[in-house]
Amino acid sequence: MAPPVSPHLAPPAALPGHVAIVMDGNGRWAQKRWLPRVAGHKQGVEALRQVVKACIERGVPVLSVFAFSSENWNRPVEEVSSLMDLLVMALSREVPSLEKNGVRLYFPGDRSGLSARVVKGLEAAERDTAHNRTLVLNVCFNYGGRWDIAQAARRLAQQGAEITEESLSGAMALAHVGDPDLLIRTGGELRISNFLLWQSAYTELVFTDCLWPDFDAAELDRALAEFANRERRFGQTAEQRAEAEPLVVTAGQRHA
Ligand code: IPE
Ligand code: IPE
Ligand code: MG
Repeated sequence: MAPPVSPHLAPPAALPGHVAIVMDGNGRWAQKRWLPRVAGHKQGVEALRQVVKACIERGVPVLSVFAFSSENWNRPVEEVSSLMDLLVMALSREVPSLEKNGVRLYFPGDRSGLSARVVKGLEAAERDTAHNRTLVLNVCFNYGGRWDIAQAARRLAQQGAEITEESLSGAMALAHVGDPDLLIRTGGELRISNFLLWQSAYTELVFTDCLWPDFDAAELDRALAEFANRERRFGQTAEQRAEAEPLVVTAGQRHA
């Protein structure tokens, strides 16, 4: 009998249903120009705008970006507070056009560590874009893969629910989408830095030296081309994969 196939595994496909990005390199981008680090973060918002547009044009249905990690609290207080200000400012500036372009926003992460002003901004943006269906944009903020696994397990334990791979997946902060097919990290580091630990079990990884503020549609296309040339085997042999019917189409998005 064939082993059970996880519904979270996407079929081999030319276009990823879910792209995740560790947007790294903002500080170095600014330092190279003798600018303060925050100038790099500002330029990073511009890069994100380009990439959202490119994802919509290419038909990628889900984009998840790492904007602030659980560990980024360890940065100098001035940098942390300018990142909080930038988030609130970017929301008020960008949400109307995201709204118009059919982007549905989610902010997976630990809200308990955020100020009331920031939480209010995140909740309003989620509410205002809740009816959109073109692109799901997960802006992971105060997010950590370990936090996510722990909060999911804690929630299930409180409910007295059985802990299984499926129940844990369903309690994660990204339960509304399928697992990422492609994870890109900009900025040259070869690590995950506590991003989607549980969800990236079979994700294809692409690392680029490009600093995040320089990342654009052409860079995205390079990563998509690399993804299209990968052979995803999900533990099977290459021969089995060649014969396989497409498994279960998750297309990144779990709930329409
Ligand atoms: C990523 O860029 C943005 C955040 C982590 C908030 P960095 O600020 O880490 O930039 P580098 O890695 O120092 O260049
Ligand atoms: C990862 O980048 C977090 C985000 C992009 C938000 P970091 O710059 O914080 O990662 P490390 O510290 O180099 O691993
Ligand atoms: Mg960094």
